[in-house]
Amino acid sequence: MRITRLLIAGLLIVSATAHADSTSTQATAGLDINDKTFSCIRDMTKVRGFYVGSLTDNLEQTLAVANTSDGGTYPAGSVVQLVPGEVMVKHPEGFSTATNDWEFFELDVSPAGSKIRKRGFVDVVNRFGGNCFGCHIKAKPQFDLVCESTHGCDPIPLGKDMLALLQKTDPRCENNEALTAEELQKLKMLQQAFAKP
Ligand code: HEC
Repeated sequence: MRITRLLIAGLLIVSATAHADSTSTQATAGLDINDKTFSCIRDMTKVRGFYVGSLTDNLEQTLAVANTSDGGTYPAGSVVQLVPGEVMVKHPEGFSTATNDWEFFELDVSPAGSKIRKRGFVDVVNRFGGNCFGCHIKAKPQFDLVCESTHGCDPIPLGKDMLALLQKTDPRCENNEALTAEELQKLKMLQQAFAKP
């Protein structure tokens, strides 16, 4: 199964590359993504509770989809983050049909930057045992696998204030503000709740 998928992915890349050569204006192979692709979450553009960016200088189109209330298909190059350690990136159309061309990433973040811990399409499982795709595919089809709190996905156990705190304390950011005593307390509770046994 996995080998078949790899083979298919390989074939797709080969045919996509050949296609790109013949047209030379459009890159239809997957995007080149590595540790350096990701940095401080707050340097991205905030939309409601999450952040978006573009790897292909197409932020306007990404924002156009993110800002509608009735959904839409995110353009290739879109990057979406809610918490520092998890990212979705949109590849060119046809790159991963099963996931609407989204690739899921789990990152280890530190003041030194991001390290990709896991990446992939239908089989990335986060550090809490949840399959990214398994949850995100439950978003109503018009929302292109973007869950937010109202699109039909199973909820995550983090409230708005906790999410805001994780964004505020992204260790990759250089300008993190000092936390209030109350925020420190919340962060401590969060770390304890999610500590590995
Ligand atoms: C238990 C189900 C579940 C799992 C597992 C899960 N997510 Fe999510 N994810 C959600 C929900 C629900 C939201 C929206 C939460 C909110 O806005 O309050 C969300 C939000 C996001 C967002 C912001 C855009 C959006 O969809 O709202 C990104 C990016 C994201 N998740 C990536 C990932 C990645 C990458 C993984 C795996 C490493 C993952 N998620 C695993 C349910 C899940």
